[in-house]
Amino acid sequence: MKESPTVLQKFSLVGKTVLVTGASSGIGAHLAKTLSAAGARVVIGARRIDRLDQLAADIRANGGEVLPVAMDVTSRESVELAFDAAEKVFGVIDVVVNNAGIAHHETALKLTEEHWREMISTNLDGVWRVAQCGAQRMAKAKRPGSIINIASIMGLGVKHLVSHYCTAKAGVIQLTKSLALELAHRQIRVNAIAPGFYQTEITDGFLDSDMGTSYMREFVPMRRAGQLEDLEGAILLLASDAAAYITGTVLPVDGGHLVRTL
Ligand code: NAI
Repeated sequence: MKESPTVLQKFSLVGKTVLVTGASSGIGAHLAKTLSAAGARVVIGARRIDRLDQLAADIRANGGEVLPVAMDVTSRESVELAFDAAEKVFGVIDVVVNNAGIAHHETALKLTEEHWREMISTNLDGVWRVAQCGAQRMAKAKRPGSIINIASIMGLGVKHLVSHYCTAKAGVIQLTKSLALELAHRQIRVNAIAPGFYQTEITDGFLDSDMGTSYMREFVPMRRAGQLEDLEGAILLLASDAAAYITGTVLPVDGGHLVRTL
């Protein structure tokens, strides 16, 4: 059956402004390009604004509207200033993509207070801070919106050496559901994407290694790592009006990693 153009139009982001945090590399940079290609004005946030220049140039070269802003998700002041800067140029943000995150590996017995705090501060507190700031501004402007938190399959399952990361991502999932509950009557949707394993700076070459390749073959039913393109369908669905009645969900994009056989 031929798809009706009106159905496809629901996935369009024309007229919407989207903020992507941690957009200077990896998943964030790719999501920013994807959202721009679907018609959104894109605000790209990261601590090092110089790293955003190339991405901004790429988006502009493809006809997109983009604004790079300095943003450290661990600082309330920095987050508020970034939203202020975005609003001055594009108005209230319609879609927030909470992507900024860090990774670190250590055994549960050796993990230090400092590394625990750093992880929770960026990967959980940062997501809460940006989501709350975005939601407060949507609510004040009496506008609907969508908040998409990039969690991880490690928020749903556990793995060795990443107890702090798993805990933060599990927190992101509960935060997503709690915010969805409180914000639904305002037509502000809150959902999470839980990626499996993707080759980015965070995975630091692991997936290219012999150990990484054999891990993927053994543990991922689709027998491969995720490509950044694999996340496009999920982000366009959750950002757009196609998901108008979807809130509080967690969408794994993991090649079946979470459903592998025992
Ligand atoms: P990445 O290291 O390329 O990207 C993370 C981005 O967050 C970087 O641009 C970094 O500068 C930024 N960032 C870190 N701390 C920040 C702060 N305080 N303020 C602002 N920006 C900050 O890694 P990747 O893979 O693109 O990660 C993006 C998100 O996806 C993270 O939340 C990560 O946990 C999540 N994820 C990644 C997976 C993977 O296999 N690569 C799997 C599941 C989730």
